[in-house]
Amino acid sequence: MAEEPVNVNEFRELARQALPKMYFDFYAGGAEDQYTLKQNEEAFARIIIQPRILRDVSSIDLSTTVLGFNISMPIMIAPTSMHKLANPAGEIATARAASACNTIMVLSTSSTCSLEEVASCCTAIRFFQLYVYKRRDISAKLVHRAEHNGYKAIVLTADSPRLGRREADVKNKLIVPQLKNLEGLLSTTFASDGGSGLEALAKGTIDASLCWEDIRWLKSITNLPILIKGVLTHEDAIKALEVGVSGIIVSNHGARQLDYSPATISVLEEVVDAVKGKIPVFLDGGVRRGTDVFKAMALGAQAVLVGRPVIYGLAAKGEYGVRRVLEMLKDELELTMALSGCSSLKEITRSHVRTKHDHQL
Ligand code: FNR
Repeated sequence: MAEEPVNVNEFRELARQALPKMYFDFYAGGAEDQYTLKQNEEAFARIIIQPRILRDVSSIDLSTTVLGFNISMPIMIAPTSMHKLANPAGEIATARAASACNTIMVLSTSSTCSLEEVASCCTAIRFFQLYVYKRRDISAKLVHRAEHNGYKAIVLTADSPRLGRREADVKNKLIVPQLKNLEGLLSTTFASDGGSGLEALAKGTIDASLCWEDIRWLKSITNLPILIKGVLTHEDAIKALEVGVSGIIVSNHGARQLDYSPATISVLEEVVDAVKGKIPVFLDGGVRRGTDVFKAMALGAQAVLVGRPVIYGLAAKGEYGVRRVLEMLKDELELTMALSGCSSLKEITRSHVRTKHDHQL
């Protein structure tokens, strides 16, 4: 039995040991020089917490609401693809861990368990992440199935008109299995041209013409609230408000799309300022510690999402590993709040952090 990790970063090493190189590289890697990948974590490290003392922190409340749904902590599961490459139970194990921790799981379009299978095995609130295909009818079918199966929001990923160049996947000639949600709709086992199978799949199927006007189309086919994932600028935050989405996820896709895009935590405040509290703003990218969650909350996030840490937990120890990852982040956040003098999430304010504007974040 592998040693018990004491923090989320230690799960990464266990996952590396547990997985074939092709899969570990796929999960861990980013685009091109992986500059943004490094920055997503390092930008958090440049933010300093300014604690308050002598506050009553004998009981700490971490619960919050997301789109009106109560969850136990401001930490959710980001959509990530192909969990069966990490563990044979795949997304079902992840969903059960989300249920145990009473948080929200965002299921990826590109999952290896179908959205119906995941719905039938878990009590957690689930959102569905959507890619828009050249065949819009396929995306519309996915949205209808998600709505019919009790998913509570659509998370539209808007940063992927093409797939970012992930060089490890090209070198490893990443093989993509048949993605379950698309079975019978779209073959995903693309004969790769010798490089990344995922790149070949995206090239053949993703609708690169998707634009702001298409949010109207999406709204016309569903009553579910829509979150837009991939906003990194003030300008796009305003656009998102104008088209009437229910929330924004500040994300650079875990640094897997455009390299040299900004670290997400460095642009969070700009996006928060743009929306002026009219819709909630969430963040993902580089969250590895409870202190990171605290910093994001102080800069205006309603909650954060974690991608790789969940996969590392799954690869290392299955459902239990995912649960431990979520619990560790929760425990660390609780401790951070206690040591900073905050007994509820509302008490975490902008003045609890100092960002160094003289350095690039
Ligand atoms: C992703 N991400 C992602 N996003 C999305 O909208 N649909 C998807 O299918 C996937 N798939 C995916 C696979 C893997 C292996 C990773 C690492 C990421 C991006 C994901 O939702 C999220 O934005 C990042 O993972 C957040 O960064 P961290 O927490 O991994 O640093």
